[in-house]
Amino acid sequence: MSKSNLDGVKVVITAGPTYEAIDAVRGITNRSSGKMGYAVAQAALELGATVVLVSGPTALAKPQGAQSVDVQSAEQMLDAVKANLTGCDIFIGVAAVADYRVAKPSAQKIKKSGDNLTLELVPNPDILAYVAGLPNPPYCVGFAAESENLFEYAEKKRIAKKVPLLVGNLAQQAIGSDDNELILFDDNGSETLPRSDKLTLARQLMQRIAHR
Ligand code: CTP
Repeated sequence: MSKSNLDGVKVVITAGPTYEAIDAVRGITNRSSGKMGYAVAQAALELGATVVLVSGPTALAKPQGAQSVDVQSAEQMLDAVKANLTGCDIFIGVAAVADYRVAKPSAQKIKKSGDNLTLELVPNPDILAYVAGLPNPPYCVGFAAESENLFEYAEKKRIAKKVPLLVGNLAQQAIGSDDNELILFDDNGSETLPRSDKLTLARQLMQRIAHR
């Protein structure tokens, strides 16, 4: 296979966690490092793709050659994805998007009191489901981080989000770690990419996506 078989193909990738503000200095986030999403961006670049990497806060260097858009919240991530969908052939949602945000974040730091504090959380938009639900969607790939029942939950998620390809991994093995094991779910069943470093896995995944 040609090394540059994604020449002329535009790939939009989300990566990293999102950060949902509680007040001026505090927020809700998760332990995603962004490593898997950045590795997928790197692998797509190596195949010749034009890559837009929409990233939540991470400590990682940006893959050279990618167009990077840095965001914090899920709503900002959705806006950045929408702004980059023109001409998009493949969308890969690797980000660990917060499912909820604080209903009324405080512009100032919340002062402590002796009382309990209740935060009201409201659901965030589902970015992958939004893109997959467009009238002429790009080829959509989702990731599923599960802590148990990976096969059952990941296949259910694939159907629910209406994506042709969903990549499952076990959250406790994947998050923050340098290596991972991926299970690919599509209409034909599942395929396991055995434990390896995230760039090796990302290259195997991008080869399979390029084939489709
Ligand atoms: N995703 C997204 N927007 C969200 C939530 C998830 O785009 N608001 C995407 C992720 O980038 C990933 C896929 O949906 O590609 C699955 O994410 P995951 O967190 O595993 O699933 P959830 O839909 O959040 O479901 P649950 O938390 O119930 O497992």
